[in-house]
Amino acid sequence: MEHSYFVIARALHVVAVVLWIGGVAFVSTVLIPAIRKMPSTENRLALFETLEHKFGFQAKLTTLVTGLSGFYMLYVLNGWASMQWWVHLMLFIWTLFMLVLFVLEPLFLHKWFHQQAQKNSERAFHYLQLMHSILLSISLLAVFAGVAGVHGLFY
Ligand code: HEM
Repeated sequence: MEHSYFVIARALHVVAVVLWIGGVAFVSTVLIPAIRKMPSTENRLALFETLEHKFGFQAKLTTLVTGLSGFYMLYVLNGWASMQWWVHLMLFIWTLFMLVLFVLEPLFLHKWFHQQAQKNSERAFHYLQLMHSILLSISLLAVFAGVAGVHGLFY
């Protein structure tokens, strides 16, 4: 029975990661580049904030499901003491996103970006795209290393 729960947790983990990192990929490679091409800086900011707000709920939910299923798997595997480097990488990314989504963004990041975009839209959206691209790259690395690690590439 515990084995079935473990397999369900693993499947939920992957579904949540697909939705979450897929959304980050869309925002980084399609949404922000398209918004940067808009001529009106005011429309740029309004559109970005509307769409990012919509994605925000999905990102929070999928981050929570990824974390819950991940910690459950670690508990079943009794894997805290023998965590491989790729599990450390997953934990690092998860912690980073949790911090941004649940602490930094509501506390000051949202307001700060709004002010920066009003002062200098080109610069603000350039750095926004850069930060999203860095987060996306390390997330994709974690997906690659996670699948490769689970299936024995590093043994
Ligand atoms: C709290 C954070 C996380 C924990 C505790 C965690 C834990 C785990 C564990 C223990 C496994 C291995 C299960 C097994 O050996 O069968 C795993 C698999 C995996 N995780 Fe995570 N993870 C976390 C976050 C993430 C994140 C942020 C990503 C992606 C960006 C990710 C992507 C994956 C992938 C792709 C697999 C492989 C699934 C498979 O091929 O079966 N995880 N995770």
